[in-house]
Amino acid sequence: MSEKNTFYITTPIYYPSGNPHIGHCYTTLACDVVSRLKRMQGFDVMFLTGTDEHGQKIEDKAAEAGVSPKEYVDEIVENFKKLWSRLGITYDRFVRTTDDYHVKTVQNIFEKLYKDGYIYKGNYQGKYCTPCESFWTDSQLVDGKCPDCGREVVDASEEAYFFKMSEFGPRLEKLITDGQLEFLEPKSRINEMVNNFIKPGLQDLCVSRTTFKWGIPVTFDNKHIVYVWLDALTNYISAMGYMNDTYDDMPKYWPADVHVMAKEIVRFHSLIWPSILMALGVELPKKIYGHGWITFGGGKMSKSSGNVVDPFILTDRYGVDALRYDLLREMPFGSDCPYTNEMMLNRINSDLANDLGNLVSRTVAMVIKYFDGTLIEGREASSADDEFIGMVNSLPDKVTSDFETLHISDGLESIFKVIARANKYIDENAPWVLAKDDSKKERLATVLYNLLDTIRRCAILLSPVMPHTCPKIYEQIGAGEECTTWAAASVEGGLNSNVTVAKGEVLFPRLDIEKELAELATLNSNNAEEAPSEDTNEEEALLPFKDTCVFDDFEKIDIRAVKVISCEAVKKSNKLLCLQVNDGFGTRQVLSGIAQYYTPEQMVGKTVAMIVNLAPRKMCGLESCGMILSVKDGNKYRVVEFGDDIKAGADLS
Ligand code: ME8
Repeated sequence: MSEKNTFYITTPIYYPSGNPHIGHCYTTLACDVVSRLKRMQGFDVMFLTGTDEHGQKIEDKAAEAGVSPKEYVDEIVENFKKLWSRLGITYDRFVRTTDDYHVKTVQNIFEKLYKDGYIYKGNYQGKYCTPCESFWTDSQLVDGKCPDCGREVVDASEEAYFFKMSEFGPRLEKLITDGQLEFLEPKSRINEMVNNFIKPGLQDLCVSRTTFKWGIPVTFDNKHIVYVWLDALTNYISAMGYMNDTYDDMPKYWPADVHVMAKEIVRFHSLIWPSILMALGVELPKKIYGHGWITFGGGKMSKSSGNVVDPFILTDRYGVDALRYDLLREMPFGSDCPYTNEMMLNRINSDLANDLGNLVSRTVAMVIKYFDGTLIEGREASSADDEFIGMVNSLPDKVTSDFETLHISDGLESIFKVIARANKYIDENAPWVLAKDDSKKERLATVLYNLLDTIRRCAILLSPVMPHTCPKIYEQIGAGEECTTWAAASVEGGLNSNVTVAKGEVLFPRLDIEKELAELATLNSNNAEEAPSEDTNEEEALLPFKDTCVFDDFEKIDIRAVKVISCEAVKKSNKLLCLQVNDGFGTRQVLSGIAQYYTPEQMVGKTVAMIVNLAPRKMCGLESCGMILSVKDGNKYRVVEFGDDIKAGADLS
């Protein structure tokens, strides 16, 4: 029997309730890397992404904007597509839950599950969390509140259809805990699913609503519309033609090889989705992969928290591959990753400009200088090369397996270790010294060839991550198509022995970080002014709590009461206020992004909470020494303040 040579990978379908941000970019980029790698390995790849367009939230937003829900989503979906095109995302199919074929599939599935007794009509009575749109049992509540978001739950009673999730507990537990299947990755998410959801007993799932209209009608009872997850999750099979006539790709691509997403929706994918499939008698996907969050200023970067960095601005200034590389390199396997512009700029300078860019330009320049651009064939090997070449030889297998298992950051780290080693190899062998001695010509050619061939092999391995840059590298080092396939990365000496190089453009110019940070602050705040505010949605779910930290972690943060002495707007920014505060020991300057909520006059005289030991940073050319704490709830935003009787410098514990 021949091995299956198809590969099916999916992103979540995103809510087009606001424009995409770099959080969405991470998942989509990770899937793009795996897709590109698999195609290079000869697989017939199906990479699916799309948008999840129904629901109350979209209905409300459209009403606010004075347009129909469909008009509202059409515009945002175009922005998602524009961004994917800008980032070079090679998706094969884009599913919209408003597409006719998807609607047909959802209606057919609903009917089938109803006929087969997996969906029944009932009356919901219980605890309901409105923002999370979830039902809970008393035993699942935490301190009487929603275990997901911590908000109040309400007693609710309503006619609704239910899916018999409760039947699937034992099968789901087996599926998730079966070490051989490795269904759910990273493994750290398994306990959470079993202990928090399966063990306490799964509840039947409400799969219809009567309180809003923007959704797929239940065919046999059309005052009900199909509710959220049954609609959303089935995209993975509707887009392959399950129960519709538009596509016929189920036999070819299903079961999916991996569904990729961030951790907050792992529960829906590893519990609800397999039970729906079990009820339908459809094979299960092979893997659910839940990565961490890109966080920004402490919280998940999200449309509703207004802390979004615009990927169009970043790619305009630094190029698509720099953003692709940075996001994929920074996010460690399975955990969260803070994003700052400063970290990204440093990464570009250190890894891309210094290490990779320099290695390519130095090597090419030396081949031009010492051999007029074409290497001679003569060689003189040295055992001193063995360790270096050995390191390069072991790289392709490691990177292939890292990328295939979504350990993309680990794979990139390994490649850049080799690039750093190659730079060191130049210094160890000092080609400029060899060049002075005619009898060392062959040794010089060997050293330069080893470098060019290493660059070739690294560039192949980098190409799924930096698809625009690597072809430029191939051109500079004279690597033709035959030696830049994925398989060719494993071939030592794949480059022609008398290769001709060509001087090319600087791959990644070095950046002046201070200057760029100021520029980005201005661009982002101008942009924020133009974009419609996303902060008005009161229904937005709260962020889940962060991972547990130990007391020592907390102890590192020094929070004090400080008194605002004076305050003024920052000229270059619409968001920032610049405050002079008394911290109990003296006066210091701090910038705060509160200009949309407070006038400078309102701030003067306040006693507010501030982190006083945060490393100083510059914004819009001004130094900020600390961070004023504030709280945000939908469109309400307040600084944390105390009465006048609290003295400046008093510490919070
Ligand atoms: O949840 N860091 O849509 P959504 C990392 N429609 N990834 C992030 C991120 C961040 N800060 N922000 C978003 C939905 N993402 C549902 C999904 S699937 C059948 C239905 C990515 O628009 C990440 O993949 O809220 C996350 O799971 C997804 O966007 C949530 O997108």
